Amino acid sequence: QCPLRRLLSCPGTVAADLRREEQSSGSAETGSEDRTAKKRFSEVQNKRREQAQRTVLIHCPNKIDEKKFLKFLSQHGPINSHFFYESFGLYAVVEFCQKESVTSLQNITRTPSLGPEAAIPFKSRYFNLKLRNSSNQTSELSSIQCSNQSSPSSKKLYQLLCCAESVDDQLNTLLREFQLTEENTRLRYLTCSLIEDVAAAYFPDCAVRPFGSSVNSFGKLGCDLDMFLDLDEIGKFTAQKTSGNFLMEFQVKNVPSERVATQKILSVIGECLDQFGPGCVGVQKILNARCPLVRFSHQASGFQCDLTTNNRIALKSSELLYMYGALDSRVRALVFSVRCWARAHSLTSSIPGAWITNFSLTMMVIFFLQRRSPPILPTLDYLKTLADAEDKCIIEGYNCTFVRDLNRIKPSGNTETLELLLKEFFEYFGNFAFNKNSINIRQGKEQNKPESSPLHIQNPFETSLNVSKNVSQSQLQKFVDLARESAWILHQEGKDRPLPSSNQPWGLAALLLPSVANNVSLSKKKKKPASERIKNLLDSIKSSGAENSTATNGR
Ligand code: GTP
Ligand code: MG
Repeated sequence: QCPLRRLLSCPGTVAADLRREEQSSGSAETGSEDRTAKKRFSEVQNKRREQAQRTVLIHCPNKIDEKKFLKFLSQHGPINSHFFYESFGLYAVVEFCQKESVTSLQNITRTPSLGPEAAIPFKSRYFNLKLRNSSNQTSELSSIQCSNQSSPSSKKLYQLLCCAESVDDQLNTLLREFQLTEENTRLRYLTCSLIEDVAAAYFPDCAVRPFGSSVNSFGKLGCDLDMFLDLDEIGKFTAQKTSGNFLMEFQVKNVPSERVATQKILSVIGECLDQFGPGCVGVQKILNARCPLVRFSHQASGFQCDLTTNNRIALKSSELLYMYGALDSRVRALVFSVRCWARAHSLTSSIPGAWITNFSLTMMVIFFLQRRSPPILPTLDYLKTLADAEDKCIIEGYNCTFVRDLNRIKPSGNTETLELLLKEFFEYFGNFAFNKNSINIRQGKEQNKPESSPLHIQNPFETSLNVSKNVSQSQLQKFVDLARESAWILHQEGKDRPLPSSNQPWGLAALLLPSVANNVSLSKKKKKPASERIKNLLDSIKSSGAENSTATNGR
């Protein structure tokens, strides 16, 4: 920690402590239970949101004296924490101890005069810092430490995986390298908070909350930022504090349906972001989608953002996934590996289509962990039985109730290793009867498919819906084929593993190589000849296909 920071900081939680506290849900290093108190999703969200409201984003000159910079800012009040990052320029994220400091800084900030161009005045928390006299400021600069916001290159990842001690170590390494860092998480909450400032121009009591992988503990560095514009504080859900014979209502405009209301709200917010939102570029209003949204890039943070509203169930799904991620430290390691594996083999894509989504893959891992003996994860129905009156949650008529206090759920007695679980995951889904069965995390049991989509994963809350309705037969077939190949590779690897020092892809590294062909050519130095390896592999796929004429559908 920089001594200056200590000097300027007020006593408070610093980044590392916060991270440690938040992650008290379990160590990624072991599969063992962790007995420290685990934080509720809402506690984490509220704390982060409040922190983001005291935080500013500053575009800095490339050469800047960190000490002077912090001294300058601390005139407005003590600073709790700060970090720098690079993204088409140098940026600083500065968290003050008090919200008033932000107002004080805004009060001495001017709107730039841009020569022939005109600026639309908007007092945001996203600033541009200029040097008054650059020559005397840059004299004795020590270099600024920048926090990294991107995931490791494939090359670095393979090196790290090849040097790992075991497959378990590989899965934990992958998790460590790809998970959102403390700084990246702060930047995500800050970006939501900056968008909230824009939306608040129309809806003063609104909240913009992150959901999806930014908060469900399965986010990878570089993942999109899903935002939910929450108008409930203003809207119809506010408790009515009335007495006597009178009831006051606001005069409002009525529209034909909730969907039309959502479209109208998003249309106007999309317009605001496009016209006045500092740093918001490439705004697209996708209002006719099943779930209407505004998509844009937040240039300064580099996040691709999807803003929705009236999407409270998705926020509840994020909470549920967060709970599952926190219950056992093996869950996140396994989900990250399966997600990376799927991405490496183009089973998932950032473009919408007939591909399986990360959300569906996560549900499959959860389901698989519910099926272990003894189960590693409880069913959603069981989590519902643990709920108390305060946990009760009905959204749009759907019962979304489950226990929210993680500490009330007994840890699993299952001690299987990650290596075994990964192998079994591929075997399980390589042989799953997709033709007749549905995946259902509510009951943790295979159910008969209610409809004929190739892949059926029941939506945990809107139980009549299939979260993987988009997946085509050929994409499912590809998933099954790759799962079988991967199970086979892991099985072989177990018998014939190169020395960690040999720098050859093995274990998870071998699985992540883009194709089996690549995999074979890179493993040439292994004892078993490549031709034999691939022949066995093809035979094993062929024979399982021959046993069952509808190979995709398993048995
Ligand atoms: P990334 O691929 O890392 O962005 O994962 P993600 O979990 O954020 O997925 P995505 O951005 O596609 O969706 C955001 C959230 O919306 C998910 O976490 C879910 O809560 C919800 N969601 C996504 N797809 C579906 C779906 O098909 N059905 C339902 N009910 N919810 C979905
Ligand atoms: Mg997402």
